[in-house]
Amino acid sequence: MTRSAPTFAIVGLGGRGNAFSQVLHDQPELGRVVAVADVDPARRTAIGDRHGLPEHARFDSYQSLLARPKLADALINTLMDQLHAPSAIPALDLGYHMLLEKPMATTLADCRAIDEARRRNNAIVSVCHSMRYAVVLQELKRLVDSGAIGEVVSLDQLEAVEHTHQSHSFVRGNWGNQGRSTFMLMAKSCHDLDFIHYLVGKPCRRVSSFGSLTKFRKERMPAGAPQRCIDGCPAEASCPYSTAKLYSGPQADTDHWYAAHAGFAGLPVAERLRLLRTSPYGRCVYQCDNDVVDHQVVAFEFDGGVTATFTMTGLTHNHGRYIRLHGTEGTIQAETDRNVIDIHRFDDGRHQRIELPILSGSHGGSDIRVLRNLVEAIRSGRPEAVLTTTAESLASHSIVFAAERSRLERRTVEIDEIARSA
Ligand SMILES: NC(=O)c1ccc[n+]([C@@H]2O[C@H](COP(=O)([O-])OP(=O)(O)OC[C@H]3O[C@@H](n4cnc5c(N)ncnc54)[C@H](O)[C@@H]3O)[C@@H](O)[C@H]2O)c1
Repeated sequence: MTRSAPTFAIVGLGGRGNAFSQVLHDQPELGRVVAVADVDPARRTAIGDRHGLPEHARFDSYQSLLARPKLADALINTLMDQLHAPSAIPALDLGYHMLLEKPMATTLADCRAIDEARRRNNAIVSVCHSMRYAVVLQELKRLVDSGAIGEVVSLDQLEAVEHTHQSHSFVRGNWGNQGRSTFMLMAKSCHDLDFIHYLVGKPCRRVSSFGSLTKFRKERMPAGAPQRCIDGCPAEASCPYSTAKLYSGPQADTDHWYAAHAGFAGLPVAERLRLLRTSPYGRCVYQCDNDVVDHQVVAFEFDGGVTATFTMTGLTHNHGRYIRLHGTEGTIQAETDRNVIDIHRFDDGRHQRIELPILSGSHGGSDIRVLRNLVEAIRSGRPEAVLTTTAESLASHSIVFAAERSRLERRTVEIDEIARSA
């Protein structure tokens, strides 16, 4: 147990590492960053300077940081998906507590190994399932648990991945190719399956899933499109995915997180032009190496006959989650983009609308709440004070692995089958 604010080392200083660095810079009462690591020297400089770190506290890889004895109370692990297991396990064995970005890992065996490392070291680990920390969804969970609609009987959840977000992250970017990261349901929707599991609050028994990649394929490429938009595409004017519109042309909003995430923000024009010629984000969206689905559905059966459906689509103008629960006494629905909840009761026909404030900060304020929860757990010395431990995450990731197996093997998959598998 410690009363003082913990110290942090951050490994992986991209989009997420930068977001948590900013939270800790803006909220110094949460803790102090004492070391950082990234293979990219510009990111090390920017974030090292933000925290006033000496040169010896800026490491050129997570490996070199972990080669040293423990440097901080906790590690913020914002490396890419496939680096989670090789970095998290040695870090836990060195004695770090951890904020581990989702997904925990990209294989079930690695998820289990991280959970075991957390247990053997009695470490405090929070897996960053941001949805569980969103104000509107915490209120939804509270209402459901308080019996606002009686007993939950069924649930539908839509994850709307706005189509240019799909093109940025899941076609051109980090998560477009399963071999480089992981499958779509794990990369993006592990949040959703975790939240559905949490909301229903009962063990999931079996799942069925379908999905495919329909739009972002070579067959849909406009005639005569070059491999890179910058080389004069005949379809440029009408293409919403033109790199000039998203990252670097006169119509691009270089303050948008896409531009920042792709490394365009703040660069002089010549440097941005160079990136359009060399970076994966300069490619024609129909000529990438993407293979992850752009739409997928999952059907679930939980204990007690509770049913649920989930849809992920990257072909929508919307962004956010739309969740409806049907209970024995009424219905409740929540929308994360507007932070509203509607409850309809059957007994007196009453409709109640709850509007919650839209908070500032990354992920609608969830990132601050994730960190605050971890810091409170570290200060109290109670691993169980973390809302999303590795055990919780392992349980919901198992449902994700089962659903993907169902999609690939075209059959219903029992969760027990995943639990029994090596
Ligand atoms: N909780 C959420 O909602 C949420 C949202 C987005 C991303 N994520 C997850 O966060 C993680 C990071 O995503 P991101 O968008 O920040 O990715 P990113 O590509 O922007 O950042 C990853 C960073 O790791 C660095 N890196 C690569 N190899 C390294 C090494 N050996 N040592 C040190 N640094 C190294 C890269 O240079 C890069 O700066 C992923 O696992 C992703 O799935 C979670």
